[in-house]
Amino acid sequence: MKYFDFGCTKKAVSVIGLGCMRMDDLSPNQVDKVIRTALDCGINFFDHADIYGGGECEKLFGAGLRRSEIKREDVFIQSKCCIRDGLYDFSREYILKSVDGVLSRLGTDHLDSLLLHRPDALMEMDEVQEAFSKLNAEGKVLSFGVSNMNRFQMELLQSGLSFPIVADQLQMSIAHTPLIDEGINVNTMFNGAVTRSSGTLEYCRLKGIVVQTWSPLQKGFFEGVFLGDPEYSELNQVLDRLADKYSVKPDAVAYAWLLRYPAPMQVIIGTMNPKHIESAAKAADFTLSREEWYELYRAAGNELP
Ligand SMILES: NC(=O)c1ccc[n+]([C@@H]2O[C@H](COP(=O)([O-])OP(=O)(O)OC[C@H]3O[C@@H](n4cnc5c(N)ncnc54)[C@H](OP(=O)(O)O)[C@@H]3O)[C@@H](O)[C@H]2O)c1
Repeated sequence: MKYFDFGCTKKAVSVIGLGCMRMDDLSPNQVDKVIRTALDCGINFFDHADIYGGGECEKLFGAGLRRSEIKREDVFIQSKCCIRDGLYDFSREYILKSVDGVLSRLGTDHLDSLLLHRPDALMEMDEVQEAFSKLNAEGKVLSFGVSNMNRFQMELLQSGLSFPIVADQLQMSIAHTPLIDEGINVNTMFNGAVTRSSGTLEYCRLKGIVVQTWSPLQKGFFEGVFLGDPEYSELNQVLDRLADKYSVKPDAVAYAWLLRYPAPMQVIIGTMNPKHIESAAKAADFTLSREEWYELYRAAGNELP
């Protein structure tokens, strides 16, 4: 496993993080096994959101942590807030109330990181600043980030914040590459040139903002995994060949492809299967060559201009 210092907390966190969005399907025993397996593989970063399982995922995880011998300081816990039923809400009151709910469900006195889950079109920077200041002063949140924001939204928000935005959690997999495509196709008439993020990856790289990739195995918007999918046969052939070369499973190659991008990258995996967690952890142990990275990108159906 590889580690890096995360934001203001200066805690060394693993480049593979375990997303807990699908944890509500598990029994307490299974939760214990998932948490234990992740830590045994060197994964010390756990991603939550107040909405996952309607709050059930945070509760299950918190209870699992309390049943275990694991010390709070040995795990990095991140959660997200601001998605409400029919709206996104960055108001001071809503952020403060949400974090209290998150902390009580997780059964912890602080979050290592809080992300604003989806951009609120009605965002007022001073409200966010007031909420973050209070949460930080009270020791409830150690660092702050965003999710699904483009470069300009981050710049706008940052202009009103005294805290650095340390992470942007974005959808990215070999089968979902609009963030990469717009850079490769810049100023051409090809579809890939359509700017959907305004140079967000380059911005994160410039500012040292951690890119946390969500749904790293999914095609489309939660349309299933591309591994073994006949629609992605060429991609799967290359994944299988490289998996053999590096003595790992194809999923590890798919994660290694994300880690190869030269921004500060962190892959947020969503599997709840201990075997798959073990396989994912191996992605941090090898580095794809430039040729292999581009070969996978092309095998996923992308053309270079
Ligand atoms: N910020 C946002 O807006 C946002 C949105 C969505 C998700 N997220 C975060 O991102 C995390 C990951 O998202 P995700 O769950 O969609 O990601 P994912 O890792 O792409 O998908 C996980 C799913 O793929 C299945 N899968 C099938 N074969 C697999 C294999 N060989 N290895 C691993 N998994 C395999 C898993 O099943 P098994 O469990 O059986 O392995 C699981 O159902 C979430 O937990 C959440 O923390 C953030």
